[in-house]
Amino acid sequence: MTQRETDLRAQLAAGEVPAHVGIIMDGNGRWAELRGLPRLEGHRVGSESVRAITTAAREVGVKALTLYAFSAQNWARPGDEVEGLMELLRLYLLQERPTVMENGIRLRAVGDLDALPAGVREVLNDLARDSSANDGMILTLALSYGGREELVHAARRIAEDVAAGRLRPADVDAEAFASRLHSAALPDLDLCIRTSGELRVSNFLPWQIAYAEILVTEALWPEFREEAFFSALLDYRKRERRFGLTGAQVRGTIG
Ligand code: FPP
Repeated sequence: MTQRETDLRAQLAAGEVPAHVGIIMDGNGRWAELRGLPRLEGHRVGSESVRAITTAAREVGVKALTLYAFSAQNWARPGDEVEGLMELLRLYLLQERPTVMENGIRLRAVGDLDALPAGVREVLNDLARDSSANDGMILTLALSYGGREELVHAARRIAEDVAAGRLRPADVDAEAFASRLHSAALPDLDLCIRTSGELRVSNFLPWQIAYAEILVTEALWPEFREEAFFSALLDYRKRERRFGLTGAQVRGTIG
């Protein structure tokens, strides 16, 4: 561990960390291309960042970590890249089992999971089931996930419930809506990190991101490791979250 990492850890131990961190893991392809390597090699080294950040998040007391691992739109990538990513995911789920269990991590997934290859779905379901009683941290993988897709799905469920007389239009509120999302179990995001410098949210958790603090770093995902993650958590601490109020209200200087 570097001296800087030790210092950052010590600072983090002495104060608040965001309860729910979401990460848009971007830049695997560019990382590989910059080194003249196949894109899949970027994804492979990216999966090592997943390991490092998951363990680091658990250690510093993050309660929920949600990683955007594969979007609904990623299916349109070249077939060999999609296949390679699915295989990496399967291997990750198999190899990470001991770390997940030893660290009390509960693994979940959100998205159109039926679209995943059976081999991935099986290991995912096994680990989700076996880790379901763990209460150290919830690790959610967004897989075949699209924010608009899940909003549309929730709207359809509301319409069905209203049509069937189970729900009155007047009772359609934020809670009724949120409870019909695939990601209903996820709390609001406190901090959303995006790597590789792109300034967009790319269909990631539109409901939960409403009041999230956003941090974009130039680092490409395969090179985003503990030090960069801890710096992001410390940056979050400096933010003033207002939720629509004035700064003075938040600081309690006016009522
Ligand atoms: C974006 O980089 C990243 C992805 C589409 C996949 C993310 C997958 C991993 C980090 C590895 C496997 C996941 C787990 C959970 C083990 P990009 O390919 O869009 O990069 P680019 O914009 O530079 O081309």
